[in-house]
Amino acid sequence: MTRQKSEDKHRRVTERAFAKINLFLEVTAKREDGFHELSTVMHTVSLCDDIAVTEQGEGALRAVSFYSNAHFLPRDERNLAVRAATLFAERTGYRRPVRIDMKKCIPIAAGLAGGSSDAAAVLRAMNRLAGMPLSYGELCALASELGSDVPFCIAGGTALCTGRGEVMTPIEGARNLRLFTVLAIGDREKVSTPAAFSALDAHYADFCGSVPFRAERGQASLCRAIAGGNARGLASCLYNSFERVILPMCPQASALKDRMLELGALGAMMSGSGPSVFGIFDSYEHAEHAAAALGEGAYLACSASPTYMRYERKDRL
Ligand code: C5P
Repeated sequence: MTRQKSEDKHRRVTERAFAKINLFLEVTAKREDGFHELSTVMHTVSLCDDIAVTEQGEGALRAVSFYSNAHFLPRDERNLAVRAATLFAERTGYRRPVRIDMKKCIPIAAGLAGGSSDAAAVLRAMNRLAGMPLSYGELCALASELGSDVPFCIAGGTALCTGRGEVMTPIEGARNLRLFTVLAIGDREKVSTPAAFSALDAHYADFCGSVPFRAERGQASLCRAIAGGNARGLASCLYNSFERVILPMCPQASALKDRMLELGALGAMMSGSGPSVFGIFDSYEHAEHAAAALGEGAYLACSASPTYMRYERKDRL
């Protein structure tokens, strides 16, 4: 058999890794294990990385090889996508070497969960290649070992996430939510996630004193707006605890947020620990116009449907 023909037999599956934004993010406490308790509503949008995982022949040099248009990404275990494939193989006994090909479009270290979403997409792909040995719940448990927001990225859509971010509660009516958003990355100086949490610790004196929380009240209004598909109501509930410590360090992100509002956004907010900012618009046309006005570095993105359909037979969400 020629080399080409034997390669044709290698199975290949593709998955989309969607970016997420935080419609609501409140940090409510610092835990003994160093993590923080969160109350956040995450929402996936159509900006995505494309991932293909291909089984390799037994003679492959590496158990997991990695290729991407983003040449700066590490190709070894420092890369969360590679770690995801290794972890899946370890836990399920899946023995075939694999090759991951990633077309990277989501900006990295921007608060859009690009790395987490890639890792989740690799887990979904590996599960399909292996014949679906893991249920949705088991896949989420594995995902939580890779990072706090990786479980959400397994299915995506819209969910209330608590604990360190890994405990998901579906929101009624969320399937029908359709938002038109513009994402923009202001400041290229990166604020790592641990550094952003440390800044919040410093601001709130390690969460020992009284902190003016708004989780329950704010979230309840947001969930009502989501259930009603009310983008305007939803936009008035946007909240992110990190803004008060990160925006002063990121003047461009701050300016972008103001600009989105000038361009007619119903609401605008920083996503995750920043420095990305998103605006919500009342129509595709308005969002398109705003993205064009903001120019290079702005992305038009709509709500992305959840990717959990494949798991519904085994585990209901
Ligand atoms: O879970 P993940 O690997 O994404 O977290 C990266 C870092 O962010 C953690 O090591 C921790 O410093 C911080 N973090 C936190 N509380 C959370 C999530 C993350 O303090 N809920």
